Amino acid sequence: MAIRNIRVMGDDVLEKVCREVKEVNERTKELIMDMLETMYDANGVGLAAPQVGVLKRIAVIDVTGEDPIVLVNPRIVESSGEQRDYEGCLSVPGKRGIVTRPNYVKVVAMDEDMQEIEVEGSELLARAICHELEHLDGHLYVERVEEGLEDNPSDDEE
Ligand code: NI
Repeated sequence: MAIRNIRVMGDDVLEKVCREVKEVNERTKELIMDMLETMYDANGVGLAAPQVGVLKRIAVIDVTGEDPIVLVNPRIVESSGEQRDYEGCLSVPGKRGIVTRPNYVKVVAMDEDMQEIEVEGSELLARAICHELEHLDGHLYVERVEEGLEDNPSDDEE
């Protein structure tokens, strides 16, 4: 396992649409392990593959610090409600901004063994899922910020 370099806003790789994962081989598994390690090392609650320079539809999320979720080829199949709160991103270091998100989402994906999984999340988990999935389509939360970016006094970022 290794900590990978996190790409920051301005890097083209963050603006590209990622490719579907066809099979999870040893290299993909190593990528997933590295993504988890990189996310924890950076005190993040989520990380998407393009943030470490890999254009594959893979994201990892852990909003509690002890409940890692691996999402391969994820898609949101249900969402409801609304939440309005600060959001940050490891690729936009030191900043945060207000973003409105659904308060609940259900996502269908594959896990690291290519088994289909369904993940439901509300509040922070719903926010993290929406945020990470947008990375896979080349979008950053800064496009959605409602009152401008501000300095982030904490170090919890996605
Ligand atoms: Ni992010």
